[in-house]
Amino acid sequence: MGINLGDVFPNFEAEIFDETAANGLKKIKFHEWIGKDSWSILFSHPRDFTPVCTTELGMVSQLVDDFAKMKTKVIALSCDSVEEHKGWSKDVMDYSKQKAFGFPIISDPKRELAKQLGMIDPDEQTETGMPLTCRAVFIIGPDYKLKLSMLYPATTGRNFDEIKRVVTSLQLTATKKVATPANWKLGDKCMVIPSLSLDEAKKLFPKGVEVCQMPSGKGYMRFTPDPSDS
Ligand code: BEZ
Repeated sequence: MGINLGDVFPNFEAEIFDETAANGLKKIKFHEWIGKDSWSILFSHPRDFTPVCTTELGMVSQLVDDFAKMKTKVIALSCDSVEEHKGWSKDVMDYSKQKAFGFPIISDPKRELAKQLGMIDPDEQTETGMPLTCRAVFIIGPDYKLKLSMLYPATTGRNFDEIKRVVTSLQLTATKKVATPANWKLGDKCMVIPSLSLDEAKKLFPKGVEVCQMPSGKGYMRFTPDPSDS
């Protein structure tokens, strides 16, 4: 099981830890939780009360306002119970010096979502042999379709600046006919997508199109200034 780019993300039902709910417990249907016109990020963790996961959740707690400015909702997933998520969130807030946790954590005790979304880590198990989730990242568009996924093993923490960077690229390339080159960041030159002719590109990008001369003589390396604000 798993999910491919372009698939509608499953509209699963789940129990979540939500610091604003009574007893911290809420039940959601995923698409309703995302709402209309929002991007969303679902990221999974192997387990509550583990060190790398604690640094990651602390980082997201610090970045949650940045994601909100990008019209992007964030939700974590860890197989443990809502009660454990509640206890762990206090450790995370203390460690990352946050007054509010800022985002929910899905509980997946039967590993149903972990299996459905292809997030089981073959190398990680509980003491009783229950499988654990890897560090998956799913970025979902306002149309509820999967736009990007990444899978990391339990032993490598993610770079959340990179996750912000790819959301910026995805949001730009969803509306403008550009692609973003290696290590691109907001404001850098973008590349004209290959399906656009040079004449079409010149009309579409009034700031100009620069064609880089290549040994092959082919004119496929076409740059244009970042069109974010046009
Ligand atoms: C961690 O979050 O530190 C972790 C979790 C499972 C395996 C290895 C590391």
